[in-house]
Amino acid sequence: MIRKLDLPDGAAPSDTARLSAPSALRNRDAITAELTRIAPASGRALEIASGTGEHVIRFAAAMPGLTWQPSDPDPTRRGSIAAWTAAAGLPNIRPPLALDAAQPGWAARHGPTDLIVLVNLLHLICDAETKIVLTEVALALAPGGQFALYGPFLRDGAATSDGDAAFHASLRAQDAAIGYKDMADVILWTKEKGMAHHRTIPMPANNLLLVFRRPV
Ligand SMILES: C[S@@+](CC[C@H](N)C(=O)[O-])C[C@H]1O[C@@H](n2cnc3c(N)ncnc32)[C@H](O)[C@@H]1O
Repeated sequence: MIRKLDLPDGAAPSDTARLSAPSALRNRDAITAELTRIAPASGRALEIASGTGEHVIRFAAAMPGLTWQPSDPDPTRRGSIAAWTAAAGLPNIRPPLALDAAQPGWAARHGPTDLIVLVNLLHLICDAETKIVLTEVALALAPGGQFALYGPFLRDGAATSDGDAAFHASLRAQDAAIGYKDMADVILWTKEKGMAHHRTIPMPANNLLLVFRRPV
């Protein structure tokens, strides 16, 4: 599912490539603050499902020792990422990759990487696709590399607010195979793929940032 995107306030016609997602504007400061606590000082960082590009420009500014590789399968979003990146003028963001993370095999082309960040995708894909994403993430991480996974999750099979329950139900109504994943399932699946669960960080609006590590 793709959420409605709006142009940023004050956008001129020449800015039309730069899309803006209200949720990214709401959560990017909190996510950036936590990532700066766990990220290595230098190395390669891959963002999966970068969306508009409003996250990666914050991440790259806050963590300048990392070279950031944004990605998204959607060409319009890649155009937006490129436009935000050009406007930000940061030297440590690479051009966006066309990456469908639910297709097997991408880790061999895009690893090894020291940090992988994924924000708000798993509830939009099915369990089988989620397991492919986690398999490839584990393969793409360098030894000791970290995976930061942000989003809404079920806890013990239940949503944590009426709003989350309603959104989960609306996703299931669109497609019975998608919707919020249970936190325990995701932790189990990542363990099966060879990653170790390192931290669970509560985030605003009932979201979580789950941090995993590939053993050295
Ligand atoms: C809800 S948006 C989140 C975007 C961004 N991470 C954010 O939080 O603003 C979901 C994004 O996932 C991308 N996407 C959908 N399926 C994908 C897949 N299989 N692999 C990688 N990205 C995917 C979409 O193109 C879209 O940009």
